[in-house]
Amino acid sequence: NGQTAISPPTEYADIVATLPSIAAIGDSQLLKYQDVWLFIHGVTGVISIQRRFKSRPGDVLLASPPKCGTTWLKALSFATMARAKYPPSDANHPLRRLNPHECVPFMENLFSAGQEAKLEALPSPRLLQTHMHYSVLPRSLADCKIVFVCREPKDMLVSMWHFLQSAGFSFPFSDLFELACQGQNPHGPIWSHLLGYWTASTARPEMVLFLRYEDMLADPVSTVRQLARFMDVPFTAAEEAAGLPVDIVEMCSIDALRELEANKTGKFGLFFKFQHQTFFRKGVVGDWVNYMTPEMARRIDAIVGDKLHGSGLTF
Ligand code: A3P
Repeated sequence: NGQTAISPPTEYADIVATLPSIAAIGDSQLLKYQDVWLFIHGVTGVISIQRRFKSRPGDVLLASPPKCGTTWLKALSFATMARAKYPPSDANHPLRRLNPHECVPFMENLFSAGQEAKLEALPSPRLLQTHMHYSVLPRSLADCKIVFVCREPKDMLVSMWHFLQSAGFSFPFSDLFELACQGQNPHGPIWSHLLGYWTASTARPEMVLFLRYEDMLADPVSTVRQLARFMDVPFTAAEEAAGLPVDIVEMCSIDALRELEANKTGKFGLFFKFQHQTFFRKGVVGDWVNYMTPEMARRIDAIVGDKLHGSGLTF
């Protein structure tokens, strides 16, 4: 698949050996761990997090299915949380020097690689990021404040296909689509990822903020205000008057980020490597029409609609 192979972690090999697996996504294997389909590094990362993660008061967890706006949420949350130290006017702002994934750690990668000590070095309050389903979070993480972002599933799948293609995985879109319909796409099933956080957010809205990528695109400034309130750092009247929420949105816009040297070059990932630039593709709603027939759209809409039925969550 064009990736430089790094051996999967051997820790937990006994557990991994017992898991159901399928050959999917080119020649890669997906494993089913606690009802979630993951690449092997994801599995070992999750197990390690479940056993070893130690929370700190004030931790905020950014959660999402992949390709739903994680990078953007990381940038907006980091800029909002760190604005006292790094105002968006700072020409040397970390988000102008680094890819957003270098500003907010991806938990599964760190724990899978045994690098979790890096989390200890972070100042409080920490921002952490995961693609874990709510159902597999250890208690220590489920009790943190959580911001979850999701996206219309068809657009998410199209984004995921492009992302994997650009990382050297070669397979037709229809393969990913079929996997998704069966709940077997990477990090799937889509519906259980959504429902876990949706249910938690309706039960404890002060602890779990449920965002949608489409709403963020429609009104990013309101999203930044919402994030600030949720993270207990609301914008003051003076900050509002100075235009800080707008400045943060502009600094974190896809056009601004895409043009930075840090995002034009470099790679992200410990096991799979993804070019930074592949995180900034189109950033629009409705790109699925260019990749799915109306029949495919009806099929996945019906499956997802059926699974979400009665929850109050619709797309
Ligand atoms: P597309 O592939 O549809 O363009 P993730 O960060 O979870 O991997 O999600 C990636 C998706 O978010 C991509 O969608 C990407 O273009 C979009 N994206 C990245 N940065 C963005 C930003 N600053 N504003 C809006 N969308 C962004």
